[in-house]
Amino acid sequence: MCGIVGYVGSREAAPILVEGLTRLEYRGYDSAGVAVLNGRGVETRKVAGRITALGELLTRTPVHGACGIGHTRWATHGAPSERNAHPHVDCTGTVALVHNGIIENAEILRARLERAGHRFATETDTETLAHLIEDAPGATFEERVIAGLAPVEGTYGLAVISEADPGKIVVARRGSPLLIGVGAGEYLVASDANAVLQRTRSVVYLNDGDIAVLTPLGYRVLDRAARVQDRAVDDIEWDLETLALGHYPHFMLKEICEQPDSVRATLRGRLLPDEGTARLDGLNLPPARCARVQRIVILGCGTSWHAGLVGRRKPLRLPGTLTVAISQSGETADTLEALRAAKAAGSTVIGIVNVVGSTIAREADGGIYLHAGPEIGVASTKAFTSQLVALLLFALYLGRQRGLALAAGRTLVRELERLPDLVARTLELEPAVRALAERYGDARNALYLGRGVNFPVALEGALKLKEISYVHAEGYPAAEMKHGPIALIDDNTPVVFVAPKDPVYAKVVSNMQEVKARGGRVVAITSEGNGDLRRLADHQLSVPATLPLLSPVLTVIPLQLLAYHIAVLRGCRSSRSCGSRRPTTTSASAPGRTRSRPPP
Ligand code: F6R
Repeated sequence: MCGIVGYVGSREAAPILVEGLTRLEYRGYDSAGVAVLNGRGVETRKVAGRITALGELLTRTPVHGACGIGHTRWATHGAPSERNAHPHVDCTGTVALVHNGIIENAEILRARLERAGHRFATETDTETLAHLIEDAPGATFEERVIAGLAPVEGTYGLAVISEADPGKIVVARRGSPLLIGVGAGEYLVASDANAVLQRTRSVVYLNDGDIAVLTPLGYRVLDRAARVQDRAVDDIEWDLETLALGHYPHFMLKEICEQPDSVRATLRGRLLPDEGTARLDGLNLPPARCARVQRIVILGCGTSWHAGLVGRRKPLRLPGTLTVAISQSGETADTLEALRAAKAAGSTVIGIVNVVGSTIAREADGGIYLHAGPEIGVASTKAFTSQLVALLLFALYLGRQRGLALAAGRTLVRELERLPDLVARTLELEPAVRALAERYGDARNALYLGRGVNFPVALEGALKLKEISYVHAEGYPAAEMKHGPIALIDDNTPVVFVAPKDPVYAKVVSNMQEVKARGGRVVAITSEGNGDLRRLADHQLSVPATLPLLSPVLTVIPLQLLAYHIAVLRGCRSSRSCGSRRPTTTSASAPGRTRSRPPP
């Protein structure tokens, strides 16, 4: 995803912009640039490739000024190149802007502008915006930006500067996240809180439709009619230290290893052992409302969808729907869209979200924050286990309101209290997982099978391997294997069974027999103390025994580690562009690639 940062204050803007862009590197990008108002006009510096190259360019040819904007681009319209890198300027070179999102009617607007005499310098949809603002009417710069955006269809997070109004950044948000960093005599704008942390932890999250004006003297948030809006100032939960890699080679491994702490943080202060229930203050679902809930719909994409599948129970066909939107970032467009549709249909919406202040968190009626800390690695790991824990807390809370026995509640609470330690013990499997990765690092296919609550864990294991190692992997319900995927089995295709000792264990074992009968290689993720598989499984990794409902929090960890180590062994290093895979940049954010979620 592309990244935006802007600065206005009394310091040199360029180093602050480069530092902010560096904090957005983990999202993946193919080019980068800055534009600074230097007292005489707009000066831009752009590179195709790494931010370090932009830093070097700025050292050779510095730009001076205390107001500027910067961008990391992931190509959508037009090839990745210096020319197509942002910032983009209008015909006069006096208006410069950076943009995240997609302008859907860019072709039509461009043709119209070209007929009116505008000359385009790039192939991007973004440049259209600069020309629209160039022609727009208005008494002030912000009025011109508002008027310029009027014919635009699509999504944008936008930051614009103009020679005619030095010392001012105008920003606009529709469908692409933006926030303002509030410092002392200085203000920043960014698409991600990490980019402003160097200067401040106080932020204002903008809503869709907001316009904001930043100067060294303050900021104003406006609506489309230029009326001033009230927006709260929030604190960013984490600090710069949390964003550091420490002694880990990659963020993915760091985040896998952080899971005892992230799971503990998701549980902190939320378990009530005597009452055998959970305390979820932000849920906004008092007992009377819980009693009225007849049906729960869970929304989520990718890994968050897998978490939702674990949390799913048999649906009741009754009115009175509660919608639960699960998202690490809180910005995933498809989840957000579905959330809005659910709200419009009258459903109450609960968000299970990691990023505080994100759009889903703000648009939901209540929710549970994961408090898992920033997830920088592209492959979601610690957010997944925290999502599972949040879903368990939610189920416990709802269950106790709706007839779950006190004793059953207390048992669940006791086991949840043990969970961070069980996660820590599971991480001790790492050397064994690394050895397994060495054995199967060159396999071209892998199958992941599971039943019940561990079927989504099989899906998640396969997703991690595909995403990070570029190995074809399929997650399947174990019972379905014989209906087709069994044809793939050979002696170099690992078949990973997620098989803790639970009520469906015996059935999973019979599926293992089927694989063995065809000469397949069985990797079993099972529970400690289980001696049954000694002769059946080629490799056995045992996680601590726990309640079946909690087992996915543990069984997924060896699968995360397996994907990570196979990726490292295969030397996978690449990233995906905003829309399509493109092996261009490298970074320390993941062994396989940099974070590359679909643009919100
Ligand atoms: C997979 C992964 C993605 C995300 C998905 C949803 O490792 O990271 O599949 O889970 O893009 O993202 P969020 O949870 O931020 O809505």
